[in-house]
Amino acid sequence: MSIVDEFESNVRYYSRAFPDLFTQAQGSIMYSKRGKEYIDFFAGAGALNYGHNNAYIKEALIRYIQSNGITHALDMSTEAKETFIATFHKLQLLPHSLDYVFQFCGPSGTNAVEAAIKLARKATGRTGIFSFMGGFHGVTLGSLSVTSNAFHRNAAFLPSSHVTFIPYCDGIYGGFDSITYMENILNDTHSGIDKPAAIILETIQAEGGIYVSSKAWLQDLERFCRRHGILLICDDIQVGCGRVGEFFSFKEAGIVPDIVALSKSISGYGLPMSLLLYSRTLDHWLPGEHNGTFRGNQLAFVAAVAALEYRESANLKQQVQVKEMYLKKYLTERLSILAPDIAIRGRGAIWGIDLSALNDHNVAKKIASDCFENGLLIERVGRHDNVLKIMPPLNIEMELLEEGCRRLEQVMIQNLLSTSVRTF
Ligand SMILES: Cc1ncc(COP(=O)(O)O)c(C=O)c1O
Repeated sequence: MSIVDEFESNVRYYSRAFPDLFTQAQGSIMYSKRGKEYIDFFAGAGALNYGHNNAYIKEALIRYIQSNGITHALDMSTEAKETFIATFHKLQLLPHSLDYVFQFCGPSGTNAVEAAIKLARKATGRTGIFSFMGGFHGVTLGSLSVTSNAFHRNAAFLPSSHVTFIPYCDGIYGGFDSITYMENILNDTHSGIDKPAAIILETIQAEGGIYVSSKAWLQDLERFCRRHGILLICDDIQVGCGRVGEFFSFKEAGIVPDIVALSKSISGYGLPMSLLLYSRTLDHWLPGEHNGTFRGNQLAFVAAVAALEYRESANLKQQVQVKEMYLKKYLTERLSILAPDIAIRGRGAIWGIDLSALNDHNVAKKIASDCFENGLLIERVGRHDNVLKIMPPLNIEMELLEEGCRRLEQVMIQNLLSTSVRTF
């Protein structure tokens, strides 16, 4: 038994999904102590869009540390923070005419969601939040209240009050028109549901099973929010930071959320950082009213500036387009045909292989575990964890992407042939 298994709480998860002792990592490969190499289709759950130990970001960090740069300062003004705000403003806000202020929350994604919910309530004077079925927004109590997964919700032993879950646009509820449904709720004096402060949205439900919303649906949703004076919160924690090509996942639809939550790959180096962006008119906070010791991690600011520069110089937007085409073709033409009704969904560099139709919840688990044995890290998401999530670093070399897909295909063939003998 390893020391982790002996002493770390039962709550540990990824040490079970990926049972090896990791020591080093570079780019899109992780190395274990026993010398095994793993191609990374997991990317730190979205925190490593620029790969492990990205050389450009590492250099910036080393320079900063060697110069005795400030490493902790709560939310004092620091040069590192100023540079981050200026760079982000210049590269990601100004070109898209986004006039947002920054709120640094700390240190992980759930903190940004907590702050967004509080701010929406404070700014509107309303309590309710609409969230979508399949949505994942974190597991602290406020974020958990807008997270739909029963597994996580049941652990809280608290009813999640003031939240109404609405079907997403994914067809699970048979093409249900959720925008008309919400319209009816608000217009019906007998619906029993009050106008919410905000609607919280993932443009692609990642943990929920890689469900991708359409441009038209997002535009309808924005119009609905504007009509009723409801704030639109875009949780871009997992699929923002260039995962779909554009830095913001909502950009392609041309919508402008009132509040945007970012975390995971914002620092680009796996350093904890989370932030909210919102319109100035929403800035209803009193100084210090929402706080936290670890807001605005200084090393993360330095890394984030380097990550934004790297994104431009490595032309990551275009790299994602190339990988999107490759993944879409490979998954559709070679993997979806391995058993009836395998669904492939995705956009940019996040894709899902949905094995729900096999009616055997063990298949996806076995495939992910066999992939691990074959040196490929792959996570499972969605209802009953039936969806294999492909989410490599955005800058993964094409050869590695191809090799990872080949390993996945081999494992799927082995497993699905034996399943097909049994089931079909
Ligand atoms: C969309 C989304 N929101 C919020 C979170 C919570 O972030 P964290 O785990 O850093 O608290 C996650 C984590 O996976 C996420 O995917």
